[in-house]
Amino acid sequence: MPTPEQVTEALRAVIDPELRRSIVDLGMVRSIDIRDDGKVEVVVSLTTPGCPIRSHFQQGVARVVSELDGVAEVGVGFDVLSDDEKSNLQQALGRDRLPKGALAKVKNVICVASGKGGVGKSTLTANLAAALAAEGHSSGALDCDVYGYSMPRMLGVSGKPEVNGERKILPLDGPAGVKVMSIGFFLEPDAAVVWRGPMLHKAIQQFLEDVAWDELDYLLLDLPPGTGDVSMTLAQLLPQAKVLLVTTPQPAAQKVARRAADMAEKVDLELLGVIENMSGFQTPDGQRVQIFGEGGGQLLADELDVPLLGKVALSSELREQADAGLPLVLSDPGSPAAVAIRQAARGIVSMTPQALPVMQAAEPMAVPVSKPLSGTELKVIQG
Ligand SMILES: Nc1ncnc2c1ncn2[C@@H]1O[C@H](COP(=O)(O)OP(=O)(O)O)[C@@H](O)[C@H]1O
Ligand SMILES: [Mg+2]
Repeated sequence: MPTPEQVTEALRAVIDPELRRSIVDLGMVRSIDIRDDGKVEVVVSLTTPGCPIRSHFQQGVARVVSELDGVAEVGVGFDVLSDDEKSNLQQALGRDRLPKGALAKVKNVICVASGKGGVGKSTLTANLAAALAAEGHSSGALDCDVYGYSMPRMLGVSGKPEVNGERKILPLDGPAGVKVMSIGFFLEPDAAVVWRGPMLHKAIQQFLEDVAWDELDYLLLDLPPGTGDVSMTLAQLLPQAKVLLVTTPQPAAQKVARRAADMAEKVDLELLGVIENMSGFQTPDGQRVQIFGEGGGQLLADELDVPLLGKVALSSELREQADAGLPLVLSDPGSPAAVAIRQAARGIVSMTPQALPVMQAAEPMAVPVSKPLSGTELKVIQG
């Protein structure tokens, strides 16, 4: 029979996918009852009775507890945190977290970032989101570049979003099969946005919190250039997000991109990989010209020890299609730039969980390693 401490230890592997912390640390384990007949009952406290991922918690708890020696049966019950407990939780997490449940059914949040503007973040966000959708992974794109929003144009979506019965804003569906949300939907055409830090923060928070993203395999966030306010906001609000870095091929650009990587590291967001964009150009007679130099993507990926997920060539079609609102990966999926982007999308899929990450990856097993001998071997101990 396990002790309550052993059950608690086992429950540490069950994490809240939004908060990236174990339900034990979050104070969500209300009670553990171990009966003589080997039945263990665990009560988990949720923040809302209709918690959308309740069944994931149920399976996670049942799994880890049933693996303990002497457990014959596991019962999982639920209750709801009191208002006091909820505010304690919120306080422990820091004031700026999203209310729980906002993105509970989004399996992967990926920030597309770079050190500077004009490297193709938005073009790649739109095309990657379309490529993921085309391969059967539900995807969404959120414009976090409030001043230079471009998702409506690049994904061919316009209109005013509606609000549903739960007072959530419905994202718009574009021809690429991607759910889109952008500040552009709420502004007069071509109006300039002149918001400062706090308003920016608020707007981004609303787009994460008050939009009915519902179930998504991937939510791609198109970040503004650089490492400023918005990245900070996102890192605070979305501890589970991962970062995809875009860089151009000249070795000097990699230093700039490195700053975005440093930022991600500082705020504890995981780096997913690097995509090199505007990588070479093929002339009509088949000659390859390295307009922006070469090797920057690989250099950066090596330095950060993450994969180079793709090298996307300079392609006038890629730009034209982005301007026309139908991503190249759909209009001409066989063209070289589209092939590279689709491959990068597959790389992303292979590196990210396809289910809500409710269970923490098991600690690697401690394998006893015999130390290699050092120094000069003594003749006397050789057989
Ligand atoms: N591989 C590419 N080939 C040709 N043009 C590109 C490519 N990637 C991006 N562009 C163009 O470069 C400009 C900047 O790209 P954009 O995606 O807006 O960059 P960012 O979001 O990083 O500022 C756009 O006009 C876009 O169409
Ligand atoms: Mg952009």
